[in-house]
Amino acid sequence: MDPRSQVLLRNIELFNGNVLLAGLPADELLSELPNAQGWSWHAGEHQQLSQRFPGRCIFSTQLPTAEYAVGVLFLPKSRELTEYLLQELAAKLPSGLLFLVGEKRAGAERAAKQLATFGRASKVDSARHCQLWRCEVSNRPEAPDLAALSKVFTVSAAGQAIQVHSVPGVFSHGRLDLGTKLLLESLENLPAGHYLDFGCGAGVVGSFLKTCYPEAEVSMLDVDAFAVYSSQLTLAANHLQAATLAGDGIHAAPKELAAIISNPPFHQGVHTQYETTETLLSEAAKHLKIGGELRIVANSFLKYPPLIEQYLGPCTVLAERDGFKVYRAVRS
Ligand SMILES: C[S@@+](CC[C@H](N)C(=O)[O-])C[C@H]1O[C@@H](n2cnc3c(N)ncnc32)[C@H](O)[C@@H]1O
Repeated sequence: MDPRSQVLLRNIELFNGNVLLAGLPADELLSELPNAQGWSWHAGEHQQLSQRFPGRCIFSTQLPTAEYAVGVLFLPKSRELTEYLLQELAAKLPSGLLFLVGEKRAGAERAAKQLATFGRASKVDSARHCQLWRCEVSNRPEAPDLAALSKVFTVSAAGQAIQVHSVPGVFSHGRLDLGTKLLLESLENLPAGHYLDFGCGAGVVGSFLKTCYPEAEVSMLDVDAFAVYSSQLTLAANHLQAATLAGDGIHAAPKELAAIISNPPFHQGVHTQYETTETLLSEAAKHLKIGGELRIVANSFLKYPPLIEQYLGPCTVLAERDGFKVYRAVRS
């Protein structure tokens, strides 16, 4: 059981009613709180929860409409996302009774200050390296408009320019990542067909692909509902058409692809996570047609080439700068 869930269960008398658990982990908490509902924006966790607890968890960027007695926010990594989620809950929870639970090292103390902008916040418990805070909303805010919270910036590379809309919580919010920049400069001479932007974030790579290769079919996949929404905003802002998919890992991707292009995930939450990228490298061949290409950018110190060679074939370095390398391999 996630330590944050353990802290809620130490105070179970507070959460026996019709509780909304926002950003809950994919553990057994819903079985201990039979009247609770989950709200997740992580496609993998949502899928696991929906399989174990059918009908009890929704996947969305917005608070599900229902009469919850209490709302609990599991602290996300991003400060901006915390601000959006707290405002969404404080504006829309009819009861106005809001809890926040988070690991201390994830910034629970700092988030409690954000919570306190909506009413008096008090610490209820501190255990398992986590804190639980309570707030009765007295200063009810307007419901936030997620699209209006986008940071908008222009990205230029390879003679093309696109406007990117990133919403809170999305990777490299409001600015172009240096690794992504190098990848955008390494997109020449792709084989014709269907391209996948794996881990699309704000949709920079997929929108660029569609701009440079207007004839290509482009799909953009991310595990995070906020990233998928951002990508949709970015596509619309540039009058581009592409499929956006919410899914966990390469298994959720289409097959017979002409290219998989990615700045794959390296960090997740406060824990480092390589698994998604290792699975991407080991399974890419199953999703590429013969002659299809994998092109990824990664920190130079990450040992991806041996994995790429093991599962796909010879790996070449297309570009190198600022501590990043772009790798290319072709399915034979
Ligand atoms: C390094 S960011 C790159 C974002 C974007 N392509 C860019 O270059 O700005 C990696 C992205 O992978 C996504 N991601 C993490 N785990 C994933 C998974 N299991 N399946 C799909 N996407 C995932 C993250 O949400 C994040 O948007």
